[in-house]
Amino acid sequence: MSIAPLPAGPDGEAGGPRHVAIIMDGNGRWAKARGLPRSAGHRRGADAVKRVVKGAGELGVPCLTLFAFSTENWQRPADEVRDLMGLLRHYLRSEIEELRKNGARLRVVGSREGLAADIVEDIARAEQSTRGNTRIDVNIALNYGSRDEILRATRRLAEQVKHGEIAPEAIDERVFERELQTAGLPDPDLLIRTSGEQRISNFMLWQCAYAELVFVDTLWPDFGKEHLERAIGEFRRRERRYGGVG
Ligand code: FPP
Repeated sequence: MSIAPLPAGPDGEAGGPRHVAIIMDGNGRWAKARGLPRSAGHRRGADAVKRVVKGAGELGVPCLTLFAFSTENWQRPADEVRDLMGLLRHYLRSEIEELRKNGARLRVVGSREGLAADIVEDIARAEQSTRGNTRIDVNIALNYGSRDEILRATRRLAEQVKHGEIAPEAIDERVFERELQTAGLPDPDLLIRTSGEQRISNFMLWQCAYAELVFVDTLWPDFGKEHLERAIGEFRRRERRYGGVG
């Protein structure tokens, strides 16, 4: 668990979140309300991703994680999965220059298993070509499920114990976190979910142990920098006690 003082916001105000995680929800409802196919909602959702990445950089958020595709999303109709993968492919190929301009380092968290080979290559290329950037970490959770991640970490540690590489009593939070797909990232301070739903949906269950949760009614395709700024304002008004008395 990483609890450290938060950096000042762009306006010098103390206590901005170091890591904002977002469950982007409501693309389908956005499209349905306009009589459009779900794919149109996802396309507008991808535009919102670009706006929010830029806005987060401008607001001084050092780390942003967006939940783009869960391990459960494979259950959606094949054409919707294809559309989403197409958008992700397009994003990974077309946004590298914009990410570079924004000083963003891209990382994709989640399992590579089951992803098309060309997407795996695109991920490697995008991560490689943005790795020197330091203004903002942008993490895309793709084929990500927190229980899956925790199980994989547990299996790896069990193997290490089996081979005598680590003693069971040496497994503490830091050792466990090293095996998670988010290794090296700070825990989210603020978790936002759009579209009025109030669930975590298997997203960073370990990492969000002490995250402040903000649920907003705005559907993801309508979400922008001003909504992010408002959620950060709400975060700053909260008192975080980490189980203590404040
Ligand atoms: C939830 O809305 C959204 C998703 C499952 C996918 C999120 C994907 C994007 C925003 C576009 C591509 C991403 C990137 C990073 C380029 P929903 O379909 O569950 O909406 P609903 O609950 O209204 O049906």
